[in-house]
Amino acid sequence: MELTAEQEAILQGSRGERTAELMRILVSLGELNDARRLIPVWSVQLSGISFKTMGVPGTEFLEDAAKEVHVAVPTTINPAGYDVGGPGLVPVSEDFRGKQERIVRALLAMGALPTFSCTPYTTEYTPPAGAHLAWAESSAVIYSNSVLGAFSNREGAPSALASAVTGVTPEYGLHLPEGRRPSVVVQVAPQEDLHFSSLGAFLGKALGSKIPYLRGIRPEVDDMKAMGAAMSAWGSVPMFHVEGVTHEAAKQELDGLETMEVGPKDIASFEESLGRDGDTPRLIAIGCPHATPGELKHLARILREKRGGKLRSGIEFWVCTNRRVIADHADVVAQLQSAGVRVIQDTCMVVAPIGEKYPVIAVNSAKAAFYAAKRSFSGQKVLFGTTEELIDRWA
Ligand code: F3S
Repeated sequence: MELTAEQEAILQGSRGERTAELMRILVSLGELNDARRLIPVWSVQLSGISFKTMGVPGTEFLEDAAKEVHVAVPTTINPAGYDVGGPGLVPVSEDFRGKQERIVRALLAMGALPTFSCTPYTTEYTPPAGAHLAWAESSAVIYSNSVLGAFSNREGAPSALASAVTGVTPEYGLHLPEGRRPSVVVQVAPQEDLHFSSLGAFLGKALGSKIPYLRGIRPEVDDMKAMGAAMSAWGSVPMFHVEGVTHEAAKQELDGLETMEVGPKDIASFEESLGRDGDTPRLIAIGCPHATPGELKHLARILREKRGGKLRSGIEFWVCTNRRVIADHADVVAQLQSAGVRVIQDTCMVVAPIGEKYPVIAVNSAKAAFYAAKRSFSGQKVLFGTTEELIDRWA
């Protein structure tokens, strides 16, 4: 790879051995992927910052690194294992709290921004179209590429941290036009009340890491957020195009591509496989990825229409979002709280260790369903449906 004089100097230790080590990660990654050079990034998103996912070795690594390095570009961070800056609505042990605090202290000492959200694009750190990023949160990566028209590979924890400290990333994959081309055209048959999260999960499972060009749908921005998150959880799709909707769809060459059709039956049988009935949830949780202002308003409206603005069943109801959205939308937050909804900041139903307290959880997100059921996360029994269905059945 061609390195600038400054990048070469960093590699030789001009900014200390730890930064040189991190630069070596980026150079190796670039060489492995035939990158020609390292390019500056507009921002970095670090994921996996809950103690539940990081564990002791990750915490110790981060604490050591924090003694020596500082971020060079805006670095936003994913949800933590509990509502670190909130009113303590998420039940965690003192032991877990202490371990999570160590991670948070190390991140902030490095200069990371206390966003605690998987939707950095709903904060003041929303990148402009065309920005190059080094984001690690898969739902944010697919959103940035597809909806924002920014450019990011799906980074791992080490490469994202390395980009945060050095301010650069190897130029390959989604940073180049050829890495953003679709390889399959998906025709979605018309369907009333299409649950975009289910469509995304179905596609993720079927496509693996292929980039789809979707026809037959007109999703709104929040629909694309839900669909993309599910696609990148059930598969590892890094980007999608939607005909007539997304930034780069019109530029794509489709001749000769594989084709696929998805109909209501495919989606219905996928939803059945997730589990829709047969139990009562201990917790209803929405906001995966973190709820946008539009999703909070939608929830408040449904609760008004269906429940006269008050939850009735007594089953705990969470909506997970970020502190910036809460601060900027106090009215709708107050409406939800007075309906009995717990508006949760800085964490989520998946990365908080809540499996024991809530062994059965109802979610509207196929991404949350995917992870909550996993033994390595919470091993919960999951019930799945649209927000409307969850409220009709259990709220
Ligand atoms: Fe975000 Fe948690 Fe879902 S980090 S994408 S709300 S699993």
